[in-house]
Amino acid sequence: MESFFEFRHVYKGFDGRAILHDVSFDVRAGETVCIMGRSGVGKSVTLKLIMGFLKPDSGQIIADGIDVPLLSEAELTQMHKKITMVFQSGALFDSLTVFDNVAFPLREREHENEAEVETVVTGLLSMLDLNDQRGDYPASLSTGMKRAVAIARALAARPKAILYDEPTTMVDPMMSHTIADLIQRVKRQYKLTSIVVTHDTSLARKLADRLIMLHEGGVRFFGTVEEMDASQDPVVREFLQQDELALP
Ligand SMILES: Nc1ncnc2c1ncn2[C@@H]1O[C@H](COP(=O)(O)OP(=O)(O)OP(=O)(O)O)[C@@H](O)[C@H]1O
Ligand SMILES: [Mg+2]
Repeated sequence: MESFFEFRHVYKGFDGRAILHDVSFDVRAGETVCIMGRSGVGKSVTLKLIMGFLKPDSGQIIADGIDVPLLSEAELTQMHKKITMVFQSGALFDSLTVFDNVAFPLREREHENEAEVETVVTGLLSMLDLNDQRGDYPASLSTGMKRAVAIARALAARPKAILYDEPTTMVDPMMSHTIADLIQRVKRQYKLTSIVVTHDTSLARKLADRLIMLHEGGVRFFGTVEEMDASQDPVVREFLQQDELALP
């Protein structure tokens, strides 16, 4: 299968401190890959490199056939219509209602008329169980709901790929389930290429076609859930055991 994203020998450090060290992986078109690893290992940095928000020190980063670090600001803006990221913070517009937040990427396109906007946004809000909140402002929503709105807004742009940074962190267990189901539904319905950064191994098990475990600057493990469970690598085993202990 063709790869949609590709990291080839990527190095990235800050102030002389190496974060990513010779990282290579690929994500196939339509595939969901979860990236796991300890805090500070470089998971968010990996997503920001894909989006072109950060530049690698060396190595190649390919997204949909394009060499991302070589793009101009204008070309990056174009790319962000195809490849969107759901930030940990949600990054919603506080002065806009839920409906207008989700409609924003559609209204940015000149050829979209209001009737179409209404249809698309209502469809997305229903799928994410947010129709009752359509007139609400972000400040009145729970963290989990904000995240659901952020996902709806990312989908409104009709992207080819979506990147999630810690979608279930800081939300209660109920909402965490809802968001996991929602990402699952998005995956099935839109067949988007997805990367999900998460600490949450139960979420990763549920969503991942393949998983990457980052450790000490490198890809320590890359394979399916079955392969991860069968792995005898002590680092992989320790990571999985810690997560079991953390369960309530
Ligand atoms: N813009 C930046 N300038 C300097 N250092 C940075 C920058 N962005 C990230 N870092 C550092 O790079 C390392 C990796 O950061 P990153 O945010 O990718 O971690 P993470 O794996 O996402 O962790 P967490 O699970 O806590 O979100 C951290 O030590 C962080 O302080
Ligand atoms: Mg992070």
